[in-house]
Amino acid sequence: ARGGELKGKKIVITAGGTREALDPVRYLTNRSSGKMGYALAQAAAELGAMVVLITTTKREELYGVREIVVTSTRDMHATVVQEFSDADIFISSAAVSDYRPASQAENKIKKVGHENLTIELIQNPDILSDIGHIKKAGQIVVGFAAETQNVLASAQKKLSKKNADFLIANDVSDVDGGFDSDNNKVTILSRDKDPEKIELLPKIDIARTILDRVVKTLA
Ligand code: C5P
Repeated sequence: ARGGELKGKKIVITAGGTREALDPVRYLTNRSSGKMGYALAQAAAELGAMVVLITTTKREELYGVREIVVTSTRDMHATVVQEFSDADIFISSAAVSDYRPASQAENKIKKVGHENLTIELIQNPDILSDIGHIKKAGQIVVGFAAETQNVLASAQKKLSKKNADFLIANDVSDVDGGFDSDNNKVTILSRDKDPEKIELLPKIDIARTILDRVVKTLA
């Protein structure tokens, strides 16, 4: 029987694409529906966890899930760091903007006089990597890697570079899975096991499979 496997455990999950303002009406963002993060939150709640979902998009209300809405990468970073301090698990399923505009215009940028417009970008913090490097013994960190080429090799690099316990690799050039779809096709990479390829499945089933592997590691 399912249920109770994560009772008393706190899990922090991120969802959606972070938004970086250019001016009061425009922003840069990443493609992301937030569906994978919501599916993970639902699956974690089903297992009895205390779930904190840090998201840029509002989707369906989920029973037993505390939602915190954020906008930019830096907002999300600060909120994750705070919530992770007493958490057992962190899953980074958000599509985080690696860069933000170097400055934010106070007023709407006008077209007048701008034949070409150059926007300078500066790097954002890497939330997953920062959490991976501050985690203590017993805390489990899970990342995602959306790739279009060399999927497994890139994901393997990220697993070690970001010091995650699991990295969920996702081929986003595959039209069947990823982004707006209700389905996804992933491979689960972990520290000490061979990559585990999961067939194309609804995101809720992918979420349940990922949490099952996390539960086994906690035990
Ligand atoms: O390096 P890349 O962006 O491909 O890594 C993807 C993973 O890292 C995802 O889990 C994503 O949520 C996380 N990430 C992050 N902060 C960033 C960039 C990515 O947490 N600035």
